[in-house]
Amino acid sequence: MNLTKLLQSQGFGTRRECRGLVLSGRVDIAGARVTDADADVNPENLRFAVDGQDWRYREKAYVMLHKPAGYECSQRPRHHPSVLSLLPLPLRNRGLQTVGRLDEDTTGLLLLTDDGQFLHVYTSPKKHIAKVYRVTLKHALSEAQLAALRAGVVLHDDPEPVAARAATARDAHTLELVLTGGKYHQVKRMVAAAGNRVAALHRESMGAYSLPPDLAPGEWCYVEPDRAC
Ligand code: URA
Repeated sequence: MNLTKLLQSQGFGTRRECRGLVLSGRVDIAGARVTDADADVNPENLRFAVDGQDWRYREKAYVMLHKPAGYECSQRPRHHPSVLSLLPLPLRNRGLQTVGRLDEDTTGLLLLTDDGQFLHVYTSPKKHIAKVYRVTLKHALSEAQLAALRAGVVLHDDPEPVAARAATARDAHTLELVLTGGKYHQVKRMVAAAGNRVAALHRESMGAYSLPPDLAPGEWCYVEPDRAC
């Protein structure tokens, strides 16, 4: 693959900017400076550095972010910064999209990718991808509320009751809720319909991915694509 094209595919700017990076000696491959912008490189498992920072060639990027509160899952945020601002510029330039959305005040696992097929599978209601939420409740949880969440509650935009795949009490004010749908504000609306209120919401896992305990709020890491996609 042509080196300029490769850098462009990885989010390092326009064709012209990528040429400029190489010609000005800012790109290393396997520890050696490369100044031929049209050098033919094999992208497979390629490691390269731009301005001394190491990168690996990725045909598609899959990123897990520990979303902190106070960020919006939008390319054009209105009231708070976008989650994309937590990622380095080359990743932002690749046009990563969030795999579903979390509310501004929700924390936890958020996936981002530029793989349209993955995005489709992970957001399709037909695929029943399970999401596990830790829900901190305003009022003490009751058996009746748990039973309602398991049996299904009616939300105003849908005549069919919506049921949790699982609803378990972790303690008097903490609920573990497993959902397979992705309706707008689904957790908050289901909890309200069951007669309680969400005080804080955190997503622990989604499909094959779980938030690692050492990934702090605001931090991100690359993940491998779920082979089921
Ligand atoms: N359900 C909600 O109500 N909010 C989220 O952020 C995610 C699921």
